[in-house]
Amino acid sequence: MLWIPGPTEVRPELLAECARAAIGHRSPQMRELIERLDPHLPWAFGLSAGSDAHVGVHSTSASGLMEASLRGVGPRVLSVVNGAFSRRFFQMAELLGKDVERLDVAWGAGVEPAELAERLERDGPFDAVTLVANETSTGVRTPLAPLANVLREHGRAMFLVDVVSLIAGAPVDFDAHGIDFAFAGVQKALALPPGIAVCCASDRYMAGARALERGSWALDPVRILEGHAARKTPATPCTPLYYGLARQLEDISAGVTLAPGTDAAPGAAAWGARFARHERMQARTASWASGHGLELFPAPRFASPTVSCVNAGSLDVGAVVSGLAAHGFSISNGYGDLKGKTFRIGHMGDHTEKGLEELLAAADEVLEVVSVAGPR
Ligand SMILES: Cc1ncc(COP(=O)(O)O)c(C=O)c1O
Repeated sequence: MLWIPGPTEVRPELLAECARAAIGHRSPQMRELIERLDPHLPWAFGLSAGSDAHVGVHSTSASGLMEASLRGVGPRVLSVVNGAFSRRFFQMAELLGKDVERLDVAWGAGVEPAELAERLERDGPFDAVTLVANETSTGVRTPLAPLANVLREHGRAMFLVDVVSLIAGAPVDFDAHGIDFAFAGVQKALALPPGIAVCCASDRYMAGARALERGSWALDPVRILEGHAARKTPATPCTPLYYGLARQLEDISAGVTLAPGTDAAPGAAAWGARFARHERMQARTASWASGHGLELFPAPRFASPTVSCVNAGSLDVGAVVSGLAAHGFSISNGYGDLKGKTFRIGHMGDHTEKGLEELLAAADEVLEVVSVAGPR
């Protein structure tokens, strides 16, 4: 069972949806399929009532939409880098020829509002600021509200936010957080097989992007979002995953993915109850770790609701990962430089608290053996 930080486990009902036969992408069925998504995507992105934001879906992995987001902004970019995926955002901006600067933050922390303000004041104005809201490599969630205030106070930069491992696991609050472009794959807390990605753009982003030379056909954010609005995907989409996404969004909104007996009305409350489950799974994983004398890699206020990155101390991470694999649970070693020093548990998507208890019970057994074997 997949407890890695994505892709995560997919419910059999969703796999069945993804096994449907292909349909013509210019057919009425495709139009209907796209129309099934639109009532729910605003909840996924946490749009405010009356929002003028534009939602869309594209057949690419999340990295494709990371690139698309950058194609719709001007040349001066500030990239907050606090992990592997935020570094990718920075590197993409460089490759696209942007005049990009990086604001480095210690891995394990999120950028402080004062740091961002200072940088915007000193080196601004910027056309865009990039941020990964939930760094899957370090298990850090950066609180967005204080950053949104800073950006509002400092002018016109577009706020491009990677919500890949956050969406459907925690609120995105796109409008309240002043986001201009947010994107995510579907293989994390949306709990589908990988292959398509979702995005949301502010009207201001769209207006700015239309006026620019965007230099791409397949990853043009305007083509993607206008195509979605017209129910015409620019190119042949991955229709099986559209079926999976439609069903998953409908199920989340209806409360079908909640534990039986959960008291939540369909709609926003059902999404809220799903987010609350992720928070509880985070708290439970942190208390399990502390019961073993282990700490999370991030400071507690940055702990991600979807990915717990645990400092392994003297534990042999390879032995922990393979020990759990022998029990049928797949977790991840640390990412990049954190390999061998941390391990990551992805408690996201449709995983349940009961399932988490089973994983942690197996982890108890594994740690007993690994600890007895002694430090490396
Ligand atoms: C935070 C974050 N951003 C971007 C990506 C890249 O996503 P993809 O592999 O779907 O392109 C990932 C993948 O794990 C991620 O965790």
